[in-house]
Amino acid sequence: MSRPADAVIEFLESEKARGVSHVFLDEGAREGLRQLIRRSQTKPATGDQGPQPALKSSPLPAAAVPTKVSTEGTSKAARLDSLRRQAESWAPAKALGTLRETMVFATGNPDARIMLVGEAPGYEEEKKREPFVGPAGQKLDDILKAMGLSREEVYISNLVKFRPATPRQTTNNRKPSPEEIAACLPFIRAEIGIVRPACIVALGGTAAEGLLGLTGQVVAMRDSWHEFDGIPVRVSYHPSYLLQSGANLSIKRQVWEDLLAVMERLGMPVSEKQRGFFLPKA
Ligand code: URA
Repeated sequence: MSRPADAVIEFLESEKARGVSHVFLDEGAREGLRQLIRRSQTKPATGDQGPQPALKSSPLPAAAVPTKVSTEGTSKAARLDSLRRQAESWAPAKALGTLRETMVFATGNPDARIMLVGEAPGYEEEKKREPFVGPAGQKLDDILKAMGLSREEVYISNLVKFRPATPRQTTNNRKPSPEEIAACLPFIRAEIGIVRPACIVALGGTAAEGLLGLTGQVVAMRDSWHEFDGIPVRVSYHPSYLLQSGANLSIKRQVWEDLLAVMERLGMPVSEKQRGFFLPKA
């Protein structure tokens, strides 16, 4: 006879088989699980426990089913737009109470060959409702220019679609928490599924962790190819790390080498001048 917990286990195993590593559980879902645990702890200590309730007569609270995004529309732009509309009022993110109200989705070309993924919007991004438009965004624009690209040619997005909140927040920003990332992860996954870029660049360790499940330092993640749903992924330093490291030529060169690897992988032309950017002067 099936127990209510079997339905949960079966669901989680099927998600795991699909490569899903995080599921969001809101407070209702957590309470449903608490009830299951309590029920299993108050079983008679000995003897026959009697018939276990069949799933039909003891349904899990509806909230125990993790929410999924749907993508409607025939063109890539229409499907991205349907995601954007769902993100505006995404209950799993709102339920956390740790993210701000304004939703910042993505920018760029739905047919882009390169997708760049950051962690979460900051002060400037929230004001303009566009990812990477503050100081880190200007750095990213410089990098794209050095590659011979503009923002309009690539697709730029974040793991988390709302600016993480802090007490008495003014212009200060913080990294998103694992819960905030898990709550928004269905969106970036769906965006990747729609755009299907030829290559993804994860900007910084948080983006790499959210997308690829990697942990540790960027230095150990860069310099090799990873994969997300069959799409090659390169991990590099976040542009704000470049800002912090100022004139450090070695960091600039490392980022540039990551992007040279992307250009080569995509068969983009690379001039001798580009190849030599940020090398120490002989
Ligand atoms: N940092 C990010 O990771 N994303 C942005 O959009 C801006 C700064």
